[in-house]
Amino acid sequence: MNISKDSSKAITKESVIERYLPATVVPVVDSIDTVFAPSNIALCKYWGKRDAELNLPINSSLSISLAHLGSKTRISVSDTDQVWLNGNLVAADDKFSRKVINFIELFRRGAAHSVKVETENNIPTAAGLASSASGFAALMLAVNTFYGLDLEPQVLSAFARMGSGSASRSLYEGFVEWQMGVREDGMDSFALPLTTRWSDLRVGLVKVSTGEKAVDSRSGMNRTVDTAHLYQSWPLQAAADLERLHRAIADQNFTLLGETAEQNALSMHATMIASWPPLLYWQPDSVAAMQSIWQARAEGVELYFTMDAGPNIKLLFTADAEAEVKLRFPGLEVVAPFG
Ligand code: DP6
Repeated sequence: MNISKDSSKAITKESVIERYLPATVVPVVDSIDTVFAPSNIALCKYWGKRDAELNLPINSSLSISLAHLGSKTRISVSDTDQVWLNGNLVAADDKFSRKVINFIELFRRGAAHSVKVETENNIPTAAGLASSASGFAALMLAVNTFYGLDLEPQVLSAFARMGSGSASRSLYEGFVEWQMGVREDGMDSFALPLTTRWSDLRVGLVKVSTGEKAVDSRSGMNRTVDTAHLYQSWPLQAAADLERLHRAIADQNFTLLGETAEQNALSMHATMIASWPPLLYWQPDSVAAMQSIWQARAEGVELYFTMDAGPNIKLLFTADAEAEVKLRFPGLEVVAPFG
């Protein structure tokens, strides 16, 4: 695909963010209360960037947040920069630590203080269960409080997006749409919550593998955009699916929601498989789960799935099917996104 990759382009994360910051950024407290951001699962996926520096997407996307599953983060003043994940100190040269501290640095801009960042995820890290989304959203909220920045929600979402695209959507509960935007600086590329609730909607997490994935989303989507001719059809598919999802949500039409989300996910995976080298996140157990879902549907159970850049399957169903779905997927973790 012909996506502009002009390396001379001057717009950097730093240059966008500094326009919204005071002259000096200093902590307003020694330590903040823990902030929380939910994980989210896209029903219409974000796949492909029009700007890799700012994480600007090629298409708009729509997600559902996972209620109590997500990331809790706290920042405090410290003698040295340190990052803690789930109670363990992460080595300073570890990729995770560097990502967190580099994000803080976008705001701290060399100011003379160090920070301790403590994060707890109650979802498996890097297993396609979107912990980077909730992680960067929680980190953005924590930065906002720690430095007393008082940023507008749309700015918080746009800045969280610079940490990880899908984090733009994790600022909110319920259904959330991330509008792709058209501006070069990306400040119209942020997420907004939908007002519609859907109290009997359920998401089931089928954990095929909780290990670290081999190819992260960033590399995966860049490879797809660069090498898969099939990717040409993706923006059209995503736009049509987004429109269908809005209709499904407005009409509370679960069949339309499930069919659209499943076809959207499989279309995204088709573009991945058509990349070179090929990108197949599925494992035998992922395919076995798909077969069980299709079998359930053939037997009259309204059950659909979606999946991200990993082997895990996320089931979509309604409360009335929960007992039946649990019989078919023993040990299933079920989330009620609207409580
Ligand atoms: C398949 O947001 O993790 O989960 O912006 O490079 O950090 P970066 O990518 P990321 O990609 C998520 C991709 C996806 C689909 C989605 O959540 O919309």
